[in-house]
Amino acid sequence: VSLTVAVFIATSLDGFIARPDGRIDWLEAANATVPPGEDCGYAAFMASVDCLVMGRNTFEQVLQFAEWPYGDRRVIVLSSRPVSLPAPLRPTVSVSAETPAQLCRRLGAEGLRNIYVDGGKTIQGFLAAGLIDRMTITTLPILLGSGRPLFGALPADLKLTLLTSRSFPFGFVQSTYRLQAGDALPC
Ligand SMILES: NC(=O)c1ccc[n+]([C@@H]2O[C@H](COP(=O)([O-])OP(=O)(O)OC[C@H]3O[C@@H](n4cnc5c(N)ncnc54)[C@H](OP(=O)(O)O)[C@@H]3O)[C@@H](O)[C@H]2O)c1
Repeated sequence: VSLTVAVFIATSLDGFIARPDGRIDWLEAANATVPPGEDCGYAAFMASVDCLVMGRNTFEQVLQFAEWPYGDRRVIVLSSRPVSLPAPLRPTVSVSAETPAQLCRRLGAEGLRNIYVDGGKTIQGFLAAGLIDRMTITTLPILLGSGRPLFGALPADLKLTLLTSRSFPFGFVQSTYRLQAGDALPC
């Protein structure tokens, strides 16, 4: 049994996942142009996920939504600081300061099969540790000019294999890549 670590995220064409202050109004506006019934594969992806791992910044953004979107699904929030959890979330949400490697080891030992890693800095940490297996990136037809980047520095090049790519009539382009686990580790 092995753990698969996946990313499923939307970016601007210039590679940002949020504005500098964290706002995703541009993403919400683009989603509003998507026809009813089309979710660009999100529900199918989520159906495979045992646990979400997200950075504190993403967690705080999600808390602003009208409703907690993850239902009873297990969520781990990564932070080096205390995070206050609203009471209704305490049964399913926990906080951890583990490194990506420690967390993957623990969750793999628990028998989890698929985890979903979300948040720019958090994804960058997992990529730098060579721990992302699969990434689905949905590129939106917008340039933001500045913002919070999806990608950052790496200890070594990461070669990806393109598994699928599709474009939607409303202008989104979605590509799924496989990574070779362990690739980014310095030798
Ligand atoms: N476009 C999209 O599809 C999409 C998806 C997700 C999120 N977003 C947006 O992106 C923004 C968040 O991304 P982001 O890059 O700012 O940050 P992020 O990855 O959500 O959060 C970063 C924080 O997570 C904590 N962290 C990450 N790894 C850790 C580790 N191994 N140990 C301890 N703490 C760890 C640290 O918190 P501490 O500083 O507390 O230690 C770090 O500052 C939000 O605005 C969100 O709405 C967009």
